[in-house]
Amino acid sequence: MCGIVGIVGHQPVSDRLVDALKRLEYRGYDSAGVATITEGSLHCRRAKGKLINLEKKLKEEPLSGTIGIAHTRWATHGAPTERNAHPHFMDGVAVVHNGIIENFAELKDELAAAGAEFQTDTDTEVVVHLLARHRREGMGRGKAMHAMLKRVRGAYALAILFEDDPSTIMVARNGPPLAIGHGDGEMFLGSDAMALAPFTNAITYLVDGDWAVIGKAGADIFDFDGHPVERPRQTSTAGAYLANKGNRRHFMEKEIYEQPEVIARALGHYINFEGNRVDTVSSIDFASIPSLAISACGTAYLAGLIAKYWFERYARLPVEIDVASEFRYREIPLPPESAALFISQSGETADTLASLRYCKGRGLKTGAVVNARESTIAREADAIFPILAGPEIGVASTKAFTCQLAVLATLAIGAAKDRGTLTEYEVKALVRSLAEMPGVMGRVLNSIQPDIELLSRELSKCHGVLYLGRGTSFPLAMEGALKLKEISYIHAEGYAAGELKHGPIALIDENMPVIVIAPHDRFFNKTVSNMEEAAARGGRIILITDENGAAASKLDTMHTIVLPAVDEIIAPMIFSLPIQLLAYHTAVSMGKDVDQPRNLAKSVTVE
Ligand code: F6R
Repeated sequence: MCGIVGIVGHQPVSDRLVDALKRLEYRGYDSAGVATITEGSLHCRRAKGKLINLEKKLKEEPLSGTIGIAHTRWATHGAPTERNAHPHFMDGVAVVHNGIIENFAELKDELAAAGAEFQTDTDTEVVVHLLARHRREGMGRGKAMHAMLKRVRGAYALAILFEDDPSTIMVARNGPPLAIGHGDGEMFLGSDAMALAPFTNAITYLVDGDWAVIGKAGADIFDFDGHPVERPRQTSTAGAYLANKGNRRHFMEKEIYEQPEVIARALGHYINFEGNRVDTVSSIDFASIPSLAISACGTAYLAGLIAKYWFERYARLPVEIDVASEFRYREIPLPPESAALFISQSGETADTLASLRYCKGRGLKTGAVVNARESTIAREADAIFPILAGPEIGVASTKAFTCQLAVLATLAIGAAKDRGTLTEYEVKALVRSLAEMPGVMGRVLNSIQPDIELLSRELSKCHGVLYLGRGTSFPLAMEGALKLKEISYIHAEGYAAGELKHGPIALIDENMPVIVIAPHDRFFNKTVSNMEEAAARGGRIILITDENGAAASKLDTMHTIVLPAVDEIIAPMIFSLPIQLLAYHTAVSMGKDVDQPRNLAKSVTVE
């Protein structure tokens, strides 16, 4: 995860590098650093913590130079200290790295035995030592680079400055993304096109195994064996999406309130509102496949879990789903004539990408449900289903989750139509409900805030919270728990309501709030019984239901949040709103950094 940038320019680069890092801070914010070459020598500034600390340092000790590389770190190997911050440098070589060098321990032993002295606890430092050694052995820069790449195993996007060449930056990619930007007499590199958006929209993406030498006038690209290769130049649309908080306190808050608008845009892409039809033209033929596999991580996985209910119920299509880190290694016997969907906001998540490659390798048709349309997952899948949420900057996913759900719902309905498992009348009714969703979301967002703020003050005093739900509300319970724990650091778990008595009920006492997600659907009475079981043990119940559920429930709850009664298919998106707001306001009232919670990063490009 980590973000890297570089500029080979004709004017000072330090401020521009830091500016570009700001757009990559979503990838990690444990430490940051910059290296430039000035008057023939390499200079570095590094600081622990968020980018603002590096900015302060650069104010006190500015860096000049028209060529430079920079890094924002999400620590994998070695604590988030200044010593472990990138760039790592020695003997006229500076390196920034995103990824993990898997054989670093073995390389470190070998280099140490030959006399190398290591200054950091990182895996990356072996790259610097290898390059320095090859240079001492008399190799030119290109040869040294090639020789180093032959030794390292694992995932990397690397950018390297050699002090004896103040006119080029060398880069390499295997796994994490790397974009080369073509400017006007200047060249750029970055972990994504968004970082480079203010400089250029002309982008070349390196493919795995590529390495390149970037000068002011262009880039020479080579494959892993050192043969020159051409990679296409594309026009990136990332610039259109440069994001700001508007008049909201946090990106997360802004993104929660944007949901009616972005969902309407996403639905408009898949639905013909006039005829209440879904028109999904894609290379996946849902009518003929025997089963569907779904793989994703975190919140995106939970969106997939909800979609499993829809594909199975409406389209009678069996779904095999797992978190990508397990899916990729399970050796699942998948029929080659089936299809697989991969859900990812960033489109760069390493495990999800590996699952996609696994399925492609077995002949399945693959579809990417992605937000970043220029991402690796989008580029490698056979079909792209964009979720059109716009940039999501808050590390905790909100609008991407509900847009993923909206798109998956249309795909499930489209599959049901193609497979003939729903009548035309039923399809139209479901589509009509989806079309109503943005309006309902707007009304909910305008009405529930006072209730939520009150409740979040209570939650902020708790040490643990249990979320319960049945049917599609079960994955939503897990999403509620994930959202709360990742930004407030309160321990929370989501369970299928029916599982309560098989273990978690032991946790319940008067200090344990139990958040029950229960729309008035076909599971309502059963969920209420589980709620009674929790209440009978002294659990403090927070019921999130709809008007019909509130009228039917006789239980004396600690609090009830009442939403409008909606069709079952849109309930997960509508019920996401109080869950997101509850996590947000709880974290804000505890003074937490909701947009950049500790230990997390927005894009997880390592295993
Ligand atoms: C939680 C969250 C993460 C991501 C997960 C997958 O709020 O955002 O759990 O959902 O890291 O990321 P993407 O969707 O980029 O593959």
